[in-house]
Formats: sequence, C-alpha cells, structure tokens
Amino acid sequence: MTRCIRVPKKEGERVRAALFDEGHLDLDAKIRSDGDCLLIPITCGSFEDYEVVDAELAVQEHKVSDYTEIADVPENLRKDLPSSFDVVGDVAMIKIPDELWEYRTQIGEALIKVNKNIRVVFHDYGVKGDFRIRDLEKIAGEGTSETVHKEFGVNLYTDPSKVYFNPRLSSERSRIAQMVKDGDVVIDMFAGVAPFGTVIGKLSHPKVVYSIDLNPEAEHFARINAEKNHVDCIVPMTGDSSKLIYDLPEADHVIMNLPQIADRFLRYALDRMHAGSIAHMYKIIERAEFPGFCEKLEKDMGELGHSIAIDSYELKTYSPTMSVYSMRITKL
Ligand SMILES: C[S@@+](CC[C@H](N)C(=O)[O-])C[C@H]1O[C@@H](n2cnc3c(N)ncnc32)[C@H](O)[C@@H]1O
Repeated sequence: MTRCIRVPKKEGERVRAALFDEGHLDLDAKIRSDGDCLLIPITCGSFEDYEVVDAELAVQEHKVSDYTEIADVPENLRKDLPSSFDVVGDVAMIKIPDELWEYRTQIGEALIKVNKNIRVVFHDYGVKGDFRIRDLEKIAGEGTSETVHKEFGVNLYTDPSKVYFNPRLSSERSRIAQMVKDGDVVIDMFAGVAPFGTVIGKLSHPKVVYSIDLNPEAEHFARINAEKNHVDCIVPMTGDSSKLIYDLPEADHVIMNLPQIADRFLRYALDRMHAGSIAHMYKIIERAEFPGFCEKLEKDMGELGHSIAIDSYELKTYSPTMSVYSMRITKL
C-alpha cells in the first residue's frame, strides 16, 4: 500500500507540480484515477488539506539512461563522475578521475547496466605515440578491446588498444565516397584499419584504394575489413606514406587524416597527384590561425612548384579556441 492524497482532477496538475517541486512526490508509484479524483503518492505525512489514504498503486518504472544516476559511488563524489566517454563498437573508454579510482569497477558496471550495447569498459590513459593508440586498463565487463563498429552497412573490425580508429568521421567517409568516380585511384596516407577505404569501396567503384599506415596492426585489421565487407579494391600497406607513396600510381583522391601534422606530408601527396586531383586533409588548429595557415600552405606548395586551391569547412570544435577543419585541396 502507498500513502496518497485524494485530489480533485481539476486541481491534479497544480498539486502534482507543487509536490514535485517540494520533493514530496513519491516517484516510485504511478498516479491513478479514482472517480472524479486522482490518487497522488506522497513521501510526506500530508499535503495541504487533502484527504490522506492508503491505496494500491502500480510501480513507476524508471528508465535510467544516465550511468551517473546509478553508479555506486559516495554521494559527495557523484558530481565528479565523467559526463562523457567514448564508445567504439561495444567497447567503452572512460577517463576515471583520481578521486574515483577506487570505484572504477562500480562505474564500469553502471555504464554496462545503462547502455545495453556496451560489453566491456576500459579506463583510458590517453592516446600515445606515432601510432596514436590508446593505453587501456579494463575496469568492468567481458572480453578484450577487439570489437566491430558498424557504419553505413559496413562492419569495421578494430581494437583501440592496437590501432587508432575514429568512429566520429562516418559522415566524412560517406561524403568522400560520393566524390569518388568509377575507376578512380585513391591513396589513404594514414589509413588505420582502412575505414575510409572500406566505406569508399562499399559505396563507390574505385579502381583501387591504397591504405598505408606505419602500424603493422593497421594492415592486419585493414585486411580483415576488406575481406569481411567483400571489398576487393583495398591494398593495405605498412610503412611511412611519405616514402611508400612514390611506389604508387598517381591518385585522383588522397586522404590525409593525421590532423596534427598532415600538412607536412602534403608535398609528397602533391607529387603523386595530377591536375584536378583532390587531397582531403584534416587539420587541428587555433581557429584564429586557420586563414593564415591556408595562405602559407598555398605559398609553400607554390614554391615547390605545386599550384593548389583550398576549400574548407569547420568539422568540429576541438577545444575552446581550436577546431578540426576538413580541407579539400585541389591540385591546379
Ligand atoms: C589519426 S589516425 C587515422 C586513422 C584512420 N584514418 C581513421 O580515420 O580512423 C593516424 C594514423 O596515421 C598513422 N601514421 C602516422 N604517421 C604515419 C606515416 N608517416 N605514414 C603512414 N602512417 C602514419 C598512425 O599509425 C595512425 O594509425
């Protein structure tokens, strides 16, 4: 039985809102109709002059979608729970603050409970080294960090602890795939597990996509992705793209997703491009510096004998003052 007040229906919403505002509405039971009145469950002894009754009320199910509501941590630390985390496939990666470290298992378990798609949770020590791979420590769940991320009907096999993969570029991948014409040659200079190559191979009809990466694990996963998605135009290669690119035919499209320093590689890309070829380059930079950066890039490439035109748009915010830009660089 639940303690309720009997409230005429026309006063019901005012009373419900007042109870809620004062913290006296019992959120675990459902309000129900009783003739011309409503039975509203309360957590206090009485409210205004309404009749207090005990009644059978149905249980109010709460669909918790925020793990911070249910994580088993001391109340004074709840405000320190991270509000964001990354998910690749069924693997979640979260940065646990020092003060919550001893509750890491409870935090991981809460994430799994609330997000049915998450199988395993890792603490993320950050991205490291030239390969940009994540240093991970398991805190809850089953299995390893190997997983399958799905986008545009493509299954991308990856392991964030072995190779870099960015699940947030799916619309860029499909946008570029739509620009690739039948029979085009594509070179991805920093390919990772070949997400660009796989999506392009699935949505368009390139002749070939050379997928280069320094990290041998990238080639391993690129081969799996080509095979599992029945894309036979991908040629995975391991090595430094600034050197390997000279072994390849001229490209119609060059993809350059190494946003901190890709511009240092543009000269090599342009050596393997013909007039009309496009380099799709990503750049992280202070927003105020971006126009000057583009001007300097045009000047520097001009001095090397490459005439270029740059179109760009701001892909996303990176920090309060920095953004990631998507640049379309056409060789003239
Ligand atoms: C930001 S990740 C991009 C991965 C992939 N394109 C994606 O969107 O998920 C950059 C990749 O470039 C690779 N890399 C760094 N320097 C390289 C180089 N000189 N030649 C080839 N690959 C390189 C790293 O190993 C890493 O996998």
